[in-house]
Amino acid sequence: MSTDTEYRQVESTEDSYTILKALLDAGDGFVSGSFLGDQLGISRPAIHGKLDKLREQGFEFEAIRNKGYRLTKEPDVLHPSLVRYYTQQAGASTEVLYYPVIDSTNSEAERQLSFERKSPFAITSSCQTKGRGRLGRDWHSASASNLYLSLVFEPNIPPQQLQHFTLWAGIHICRALQSFVPSAPLKIKWPNDLHCDGRKFAGMLTEAKMDADSIRSIIFGIGLNLNSNPANYPIEIRGLATSLYAVHGNELPLNQVAAKVIAAIETAYNCAMGGDTSEDIVDAWTPLSALNGKPVTALMNGQEVSGIASGIDESGALILTAADGTVQKVRAGDVTLKK
Ligand code: BTN
Repeated sequence: MSTDTEYRQVESTEDSYTILKALLDAGDGFVSGSFLGDQLGISRPAIHGKLDKLREQGFEFEAIRNKGYRLTKEPDVLHPSLVRYYTQQAGASTEVLYYPVIDSTNSEAERQLSFERKSPFAITSSCQTKGRGRLGRDWHSASASNLYLSLVFEPNIPPQQLQHFTLWAGIHICRALQSFVPSAPLKIKWPNDLHCDGRKFAGMLTEAKMDADSIRSIIFGIGLNLNSNPANYPIEIRGLATSLYAVHGNELPLNQVAAKVIAAIETAYNCAMGGDTSEDIVDAWTPLSALNGKPVTALMNGQEVSGIASGIDESGALILTAADGTVQKVRAGDVTLKK
């Protein structure tokens, strides 16, 4: 069990949030010290102290006499007030909790559920000590310049109604990230990996708790290699993994990306719950598929099947066409691209 002493949650304080909101709302403009003082109900010298505290957390400000303050740099690690601001800007309603260090955001999400925290909520962290991947694998989670995030929903509906949730999440997250790296071809490797130029930069892990015939809770976790340098990855994944920084050539704003990903997951959940029926999953998936037209091998009921991938069907299964024309549908598991 997590306790406050074991994993420390860092909250967005009202004062930091109010100052940052005023500065971010002003964009490139300046905000006067007296405006900030009025907003917080404190003196102008006291504002200096608050800004100094934010400077210690990685913010930079320009201060000009008679004009006020301008935000010139955001921290390059997660900051709870920034995630809160950008999440609201992105139109998401999820409450976001931040832990500098945690065992696993999925595990903390599970503990928060057991403490009866009201969903939807998100757990974010800068470092996981026991990050979990699919199929019992570890998820290397040492870099604070990456994103470790879990979102929790309690749908209380029959499981088949949510069968597309992770696929929709991949689609909406991929689209949200594409807006940050317009020239990098971001793709989804069925079912749960995000790829660019044949290397994985993000993985998704969905864990559900069932009642007799309904899904009680769903914990969706994503590990996203954002600003880390693949040269520093463990040797066993170095040739297979990449980061958005590596494919884009520049660092991306971590807090803004986190907020956009949270909003994308909310959108995916609403799609999967049937709230938005304007798009067909097959049509949405096709342009993003990393596998279409490629020879792949999959494990199905312990048996290896091979074929050319040609998209997904309406149920979300991967369609493979073998050399003799036989069509197979892979419903779960991992697929490997043949060399
Ligand atoms: C995979 O590709 O195997 C899935 C990786 C999922 C990793 C994320 S990081 C945030 C969340 N917490 C975890 O322990 N795992 C997921």
